[in-house]
Amino acid sequence: MNPLIVAPSILASDFTRLGEEVRRAEQAGADWLHMDIMDGHFVDNISFGPAFVAAARKCATRPLDVHLMISRPDHFFPRFADSAHNITVHVEAGHDIPATLAGIRAAGCTAGLAIRPATPLDRALPFLPMIDLLLVMTVEPGFGGQEFMPGMIGKIAAAARFRADHSLSFRIQVDGGITPETAPLTVASGADTLVAGTSLFRAARMDAAIAALHAACATAR
Ligand code: DX5
Ligand code: ZN
Repeated sequence: MNPLIVAPSILASDFTRLGEEVRRAEQAGADWLHMDIMDGHFVDNISFGPAFVAAARKCATRPLDVHLMISRPDHFFPRFADSAHNITVHVEAGHDIPATLAGIRAAGCTAGLAIRPATPLDRALPFLPMIDLLLVMTVEPGFGGQEFMPGMIGKIAAAARFRADHSLSFRIQVDGGITPETAPLTVASGADTLVAGTSLFRAARMDAAIAALHAACATAR
């Protein structure tokens, strides 16, 4: 079983104080830092790009987990490769998926594949032997602060069954609306990597919020 990872999403941080926010998350117990890249085409929002991720890399000591919500991730992922530990691309983004995943690994990163809520797991199945992480979106990608979609639990459970049946070890990540109430539902179904923006960065104390996530999931695994 993969150890549980908690990855605060920098999208919910105060961008005017990026360095302090990175340190605050790390001191609170962040395992990874999640960085959401949005291009205004693949999703209806624009966030930040490679220069911002490189700036975070300079002040971070923990691995950076880069989630590309962009068209042509095959063209753009190399610009994140020096800063990232993991790079996740979407199955719906219109690219040669095996080639992109191989390219990410050849660039020295681990490779993730993400699926939107409306995308069935079937679309990702052929690629699961080629990945280090499957990101099951638990909100429609594009914005932080949305409600968790309980309908995604079945998809997480099916991914975990496939993983066990094929003796694979990719992580199952969930992203969107993750709180101490929703996280245990995902973890009980096989998720092991939690992304949370609003519930961590907007908490009164992030260390207590991360501890609450771990406590809520401890008995669910
Ligand atoms: C949504 C992003 C998420 C977002 C999660 O498109 O992929 O990473 O930051 O934010 P919360 O935890 O606020 O739902
Ligand atoms: Zn994300």
